[in-house]
Amino acid sequence: MSDKPDKFIDDNGLRLDGRRVDEIRPMKIDIGVLSRADGSCYLEWGKNKVLAAVYGPRTLHPRRKQIPDAALIRYRYNMASFSVEDRIRPGPSRRSVEISKVSAEAFEPVVLTKFYPNTVIDIFTEIIQADAGTRTAAINAASIALADAGIPMKGLVSACAVGKVDGQLVLDLNKDEDNFGAADLPVAMTQDGEITLIQMDGNLTQEEFKEAIEMVRAGCMEILEIQKKALYTKFGDDSSFDLTEE
Ligand code: CDP
Repeated sequence: MSDKPDKFIDDNGLRLDGRRVDEIRPMKIDIGVLSRADGSCYLEWGKNKVLAAVYGPRTLHPRRKQIPDAALIRYRYNMASFSVEDRIRPGPSRRSVEISKVSAEAFEPVVLTKFYPNTVIDIFTEIIQADAGTRTAAINAASIALADAGIPMKGLVSACAVGKVDGQLVLDLNKDEDNFGAADLPVAMTQDGEITLIQMDGNLTQEEFKEAIEMVRAGCMEILEIQKKALYTKFGDDSSFDLTEE
């Protein structure tokens, strides 16, 4: 692990990677990268590299797990052993099980599961390279993979973290900011701004918390535009591509 930097924000208000406090890392999205999946996405966000694959809706087995009036959303978040500095032990961990659970719930308000009773929609996310913000990167990729799979949704889900270093709020923490910072607040939201995931490590005052939510909201809206642009580039910017419910 790297040593704690003396300062995270310089006298010009710039962070160690040159970003402003409210600036997200560059994001690159490739759609339909896996031929076996119904929908897929490869997403790079700063140094994070993530793959998402969506399968379904398909009949859920065993039948006792079926929901008679809706599809089940199953979400797997997994870090490749080689994605971090120390090797990650393969298989589920407490952390990955928790992230998988809250990430599935982040999509429940937007996916129109009622159209597909007794089925399952499987979302697999694999972190190939990690540099903080991997759960939010995976959600952004999963959102695109769901759209690529043609799963009807009320809209996309966009996610970003906000945190605190050197006593200042910063958007989209990188690894050092995450490891040594005073707070880390990952958030996912719908395109209408409804929060579907919120977690928090560390401490913020009430005022900081309010400000952090506004900052992360702006970040999510910026990401939404990047996601929409990627989808429009692939599928065309016209009425034939409409995620919304009639
Ligand atoms: O990645 P995210 O910010 O969603 O989750 P985190 O638990 O706050 O982890 C922050 C970062 O720490 C990860 O993105 C990895 O770069 C690193 N990490 C690690 O090196 N080894 C782990 N077992 C877990 C996280």
